[in-house]
Amino acid sequence: MSYNLLKGKKGIIFGALDENSIAWKTAVKAHEEGAEIVLTNAPIAMRMGSIKTLAEQIGAEIVPADATKVEDLENLVDKATEILGGKIDFVLHSIGMSVNVRKGKHYTDQNYDWTAKGWDVSAVSFHKTMQALYQKDAMSEWGSIVALSYMAAQRVFPDYNDMADNKAYLESIARSFGYFFGKEKKVRVNTISQSPTPTTAGQGVKGFDGFIAYADKMSPLGNATAQDCADYTITLFSDLTKKVTLQNLYHDGGFSNVGVSQEVMEAFVEKESEK
Ligand SMILES: NC(=O)c1ccc[n+]([C@@H]2O[C@H](COP(=O)([O-])OP(=O)(O)OC[C@H]3O[C@@H](n4cnc5c(N)ncnc54)[C@H](O)[C@@H]3O)[C@@H](O)[C@H]2O)c1
Repeated sequence: MSYNLLKGKKGIIFGALDENSIAWKTAVKAHEEGAEIVLTNAPIAMRMGSIKTLAEQIGAEIVPADATKVEDLENLVDKATEILGGKIDFVLHSIGMSVNVRKGKHYTDQNYDWTAKGWDVSAVSFHKTMQALYQKDAMSEWGSIVALSYMAAQRVFPDYNDMADNKAYLESIARSFGYFFGKEKKVRVNTISQSPTPTTAGQGVKGFDGFIAYADKMSPLGNATAQDCADYTITLFSDLTKKVTLQNLYHDGGFSNVGVSQEVMEAFVEKESEK
């Protein structure tokens, strides 16, 4: 069902790798809601993923950009405004990667070159993206910028590794840049803190199967899926959320405010009785 929430709006969506990607589902949904989109991803992801299929499906152009490279981002902003024929109404930053996680390096044994790389890709890229948009005055008034985060920014999830620190930094950038974007351009900036989701990035985290199942049992509404996240993100791009800014918004079926659930408790009660 379409509500035409994004009718006439133009946006840039980063991070659609394959059909499981949160960005992929958001692009499809934004298109259904009437938006015109430019898709972007790192040049290497163009070769590995299936972004071209998505582009054909929603009639979008792709502009490759490595989100750690300022010149790529400046080119992206120029090309996107040209292709879309005007200023940008919404941007989704859906990018995350830790080399330490990928290579199985423990949090207490970091390779700091890898730490720096993961920080640049997962957090600083958000600043670089916003700086390119800001300096080129490419955002429309009352535009909306969203990045995706995870609750490991606030609480310990041991296997989330240095991504926890990257997410904390990302959320801080949203507030700091969001202040200036709000003051100067009336643009809002928020992060969505999403449930564990079975995607390429998600499944790269050690112990993922365990904590996705645990989160599901802890959340009164169950985990939010990638599709649910797409739906929520659309509301933040719509004109119905104009005064929401500088927020980290939990989208997790209630997980973040639950101490313990009946299901999780029962698992331990049974264990007790087996003693
Ligand atoms: N999957 C989860 O459990 C989960 C939970 C909360 C938040 N998130 C966040 O959601 C976002 C999207 O991830 P996803 O789960 O859809 O996984 P995904 O693997 O589908 O998407 C990650 C994307 O980042 C892109 N990327 C990596 N390096 C890049 C670079 N240098 N320049 C441009 N793009 C680059 C990849 O090509 C890929 O498209 C990430 O920020 C992730 O941390 C994921």
